[in-house]
Amino acid sequence: MEISPAHARELEKQQQRKAALQEACEVAFEGVDRILFEAGCGHGHWLTSYAETQPEQTCVGIDLISWRIRKGLDKRDKRQLQNLHFFKAELGEFLEILPERIRFDLTVLLFPDPWPKAKHHRRRMVQTAFLDEVARRTDVGGRFCFRSDDLPYYEWTVEHLEAHSEWAIDTKAEWPHEMETYFQEMMDGYHSVVARRV
Ligand SMILES: C[S@@+](CC[C@H](N)C(=O)[O-])C[C@H]1O[C@@H](n2cnc3c(N)ncnc32)[C@H](O)[C@@H]1O
Repeated sequence: MEISPAHARELEKQQQRKAALQEACEVAFEGVDRILFEAGCGHGHWLTSYAETQPEQTCVGIDLISWRIRKGLDKRDKRQLQNLHFFKAELGEFLEILPERIRFDLTVLLFPDPWPKAKHHRRRMVQTAFLDEVARRTDVGGRFCFRSDDLPYYEWTVEHLEAHSEWAIDTKAEWPHEMETYFQEMMDGYHSVVARRV
């Protein structure tokens, strides 16, 4: 099938973006096999605080928005945290280029965009394919943690986890680390769920 010149240019840009991201990850993750992964980390409040308390754990946050990532990097540099990495990246592209050997000890989504209209639900980060990929990179016992102020998105996530054969909701699990995110501070309340890889 023929593609338009504009589409061809977009594909070329995407290839270049992914190649640059892959190179940056290869440098940052030299000697690293296991990470804590936060998708949609925003300004990096939670991840910076977590990384400070867990210096032996490599912590990786990604977000689509450059200035949010810059704020995260500023926090990291001020606190001189060697175990903390932030990348400007789209979730699907990041998972595509991430070195195969990298395993996830813990995956965190905090206040992800809820995309409330049904026609936009396919844009939500929590999808079966995403849970499949995180499960593939997580050893049995590893955790997936989700928190949102949006009840319908929370329920969507619970339903997707309950329907997934490789995740089991752990109602007794403690939240891994309490630190208000930028969005959490603005909300009146929230719902959290922790699942374990089975
Ligand atoms: C509502 S904000 C929450 C930010 C942060 N977790 C907090 O609680 O303050 C959602 C974030 O997810 C990012 N995001 C949305 N879709 C994304 C995607 N596909 N890949 C990477 N980041 C994404 C947005 O840029 C935004 O910063």
